[in-house]
Amino acid sequence: MAVVLGIETSCDETGVGIVADGRLLGDALASSMEEHARFGGVVPEIAARAHLEALVPCVSKAFADSGLTPADVDAVAVTAGPGLATALQTGVAAAKSFALAWDVPLYGVHHLAGHVAADTLEHGPLPRRCMALIVSGGHTSLLLLDDLARSPIVHLGDTRDDAAGEAFDKVARLLGLPYPGGPSVSKAALTGDPDKIAFPRAMPGSYSFSFSGLKAAVARWVERSPETLHVADVAASFQEAVVDVLTAKAVSACRDHDVSTLLIVGGVAANGRLRELAAERCARAGIELRVPVPRLCTDNGAMIAAVGGLLHEAGEPASPLDLSVDPSAPL
Ligand code: KG4
Ligand code: ZN
Repeated sequence: MAVVLGIETSCDETGVGIVADGRLLGDALASSMEEHARFGGVVPEIAARAHLEALVPCVSKAFADSGLTPADVDAVAVTAGPGLATALQTGVAAAKSFALAWDVPLYGVHHLAGHVAADTLEHGPLPRRCMALIVSGGHTSLLLLDDLARSPIVHLGDTRDDAAGEAFDKVARLLGLPYPGGPSVSKAALTGDPDKIAFPRAMPGSYSFSFSGLKAAVARWVERSPETLHVADVAASFQEAVVDVLTAKAVSACRDHDVSTLLIVGGVAANGRLRELAAERCARAGIELRVPVPRLCTDNGAMIAAVGGLLHEAGEPASPLDLSVDPSAPL
C-alpha cells in the first residue's frame, strides 16, 4: 500500500491530504479567502504568506486525522502549476523539504489532473475513457481522458474569455453580493426565477465557451434599473444561462466522442443547479455522470495526493528536487 501526502497551494486554499491506494485517510484545509474579500479577488502576496503560515499546521492535522506518521509516507505530491507563482512556490518548497527529509520521491502534479482525480477518491477508479468538464475560477475546459497517469489528456476546448467561476465572481460583484461569488450567487438564485430574464447563451464553435457577453448583459441589466433590481431573479437567470451552456456542450462532447461517462469537477461543480441539470441531461442521453461531493470539487490536497498515487502506482519517474513551478502549465 503506497501512502502519498499531497499539497495544494495554487490559489487561496492551503490543502493537505493523505491518500493510500485511492482512499482518503486524512486531510486539512485552510483558506485565506476572507483576507482577499475586501479586494474582490485573490491577492497573490497575501495568499503566499497565508500558505506559509498554514502549511505545517495543515500537515500536522492531516497526519493526526489519518493516524499515520511521516515514517509511513511513500511519496509526496504537490501542485506545480498552473496557478499563482508565489503561491505555488510555497507548496513546492515545502514538498521538496518533506521529500528530502523523508527520503521519498516527489511528484509535481498538474492542478487540473488533480481536479479530475478528486472524483476517484469518492467513486473509485475512472473508466478507461471519459469526458471531464473542469469548471473553476481559472478554467472552463472539456478534456478527453484515457489513462490519467500514462496517456496525455486531450484538450478539446476552453473558454475564450472568462472562466465559469470567474463569471460567477464578477456577476456577484455587479449584484453587490459577497466574494467568492459562486456560493453567494447560487444562494441568491434559490429564491429567484431562472426564466425571468433571457440572458444570452453564447455557443462559440465546437467545444469553446465564452462568458464575457453574458457578464456584459448582466451589467447592462443592472445599470438599466438599479433601484428596482430584483437580485434573486438576475442571479437565477444568470446561473441558468451558465449551466445551460456548460451541460449542453459537455453532453454533446460525450456524444461526439462516443464516451459514456462524464465527470464534472472544479469549484463550480459545487453548484447545485449545475449538478441537477447535468443529472437530468445525462440521464436522458444515457451518460453516467460522476460529480464529487462539494468539498472534493473545490481546491484540496487530497486530489493532488490522488494523482501522486496514480503516478507512483504506474511507476512513472519522480520529479527532480529542483522542480520549478509552472504558473501557466499547459496540459
Ligand atoms: O476549483 P476552485 O476551488 O479554485 C480554482 O482552481 O479556481 O474554484 C473556485 C471557483 C470560484 O470562482 C467560485 O466562485 C466557484 O468556484 N464556486 C462556485 C460555487 N462554489 C464555488 N460557482 C458556482 N456555484 C457554487 N456553488
Ligand atoms: Zn482548482
